[in-house]
Order: sequence, then structure tokens, then C-alpha cells
Amino acid sequence: MRKLIIAGNWKMNAGAASEATGLAKGVLAKYGQSDAVDIVFCPPFTALREVSAVIQGSKIALGGQNMYPKAGGAFTGEISPLFLKDCGCAYVILGHSERRTYFKESNEFINEKVKFAFENGLIPILCIGETEQEREAGKTEAVVEDHLRGGLAGLTPEQVKSMIIAYEPVWAIGTGKTATPEDAQSVHAFARGLIAKLYDDSVARTVRIQYGGSVKADNAKELLGQPDIDGALVGGAALKADSFNGIIDNSGAV
Ligand code: PGA
Repeated sequence: MRKLIIAGNWKMNAGAASEATGLAKGVLAKYGQSDAVDIVFCPPFTALREVSAVIQGSKIALGGQNMYPKAGGAFTGEISPLFLKDCGCAYVILGHSERRTYFKESNEFINEKVKFAFENGLIPILCIGETEQEREAGKTEAVVEDHLRGGLAGLTPEQVKSMIIAYEPVWAIGTGKTATPEDAQSVHAFARGLIAKLYDDSVARTVRIQYGGSVKADNAKELLGQPDIDGALVGGAALKADSFNGIIDNSGAV
């Protein structure tokens, strides 16, 4: 049985120290010692240390929202995985559709980051997913395959087993439109099948694939109840402790 992993991608929100710690404390109070699901907070970089101090000694983990694939040097404005580790991060989100769209990140660049994250002891949460146009053109599986083949290139079976993949249809992010549980399940099953082809059945059975895109307390149960959906990457609904807790409440695991 794969354990559910529910991660809050705060994006460029809740970055003020008081807001970030308040949000973290609200989840901590209810689920800080829970083993039923894995919980990860991904706050803005500037709030990582404050949030890390809040969750210290709890079961909740910390993640970055991005990183640069170098240890250090003259890369103005970028963040090294070593700094994320130093802030207490165990995870890092890579290849989010907002990075692919606004910052023109390619599969190759994302793959370089995924490999460098592993080299530095971070668990990548690799985001994949199609745009509305691509879905309407019947290209969902082709895009998912391209993102997966590109993002996973050169990884060992053990690395893939230990990482997280987040299927996030771009048209469902922040729009209130959610993929139906059946549609999401079918893409997750396709992704897992492709991983079985690229690696083997044991890798495919082990890797956790989150769904993301307008996940809320009231759709969490159906989505997370699908056999190939192993958790959620949550944006908007992760910004209030009550709504994030509501997703965990309805995950079917607690
Ligand atoms: P959303 O964002 O839950 O606000 O749709 C999800 C994400 O982009 O990770």
C-alpha cells in the first residue's frame, strides 16, 4: 500500500513570517503527530526557516518550490539545494507548470534539477500535465509521456521509487475546475503504466503519484479514493489551515 502524501504548495503567498507560522501551526495542531498520511509544506523560500522551526519535532516535512541545479556560485537570485537542506527541506517541487510557462523551463533543465536534487539528498516532486488546448487536441497522454520521459531521464529505479510525481492538468490549477476522479485516475494509470515500461512493475507500484489542480476538502475523498492517486499537491486550499486540514480529514486515511 502506498502511503498518501499531501503537500501544500503555497506558491508566492503566505510569505510574511507571521502568516506562514500561523498557517503551519494551524495544521500542526491537528495533524502534527499523524502517521496516517505524509504531510509537506512548501512555503516561499523566505519563510522556510520560520516554518521549519514551527514543525520541528513533528511528522510534517518541509519542501522548496524550486531550486537551481548548482551547489553555489554566481547565479544571482537563485537558490541552491544545499541552502534548502540547510533550511530543513526534505523535498523540492520541480517542473511546476507555472515554472514551465512563465519561466520557460524545459524538460532538459527540469531533468538536470531532478538529478541534482537527488545528488544533494532532496526528494523531487516532479510536476507533469497538459494544458487545456493540449487536452482538447487529444494530446494529454503524449504530453504526460513527454514530461515523464524528459523528467526521469537517467534516473535509477531506486531514485524513481523514492520520488513523487504530481500530475497537475494545467487547466485545473487555480481555476476551480477539477479533473473528474475518473479522468484523473485514467491519466495516473497511464503514467504508472509508462513507468512500468521505462523501469519495471516494482518501480511503478512503488512510486507515488499525486494529483493537483483545485483539490479541496469536498473533492478530496473521491480523488484520493482512486487506486492510482496517491495524494495531492494543493495550492489555493493549502493557504488556510482549516481547508488544508479538511483535505486531510477527507483523505480516507485518517
Ligand atoms: P491549486 O494549485 O490547488 O490552487 O489548483 C495546485 C498547484 O498548482 O500545485
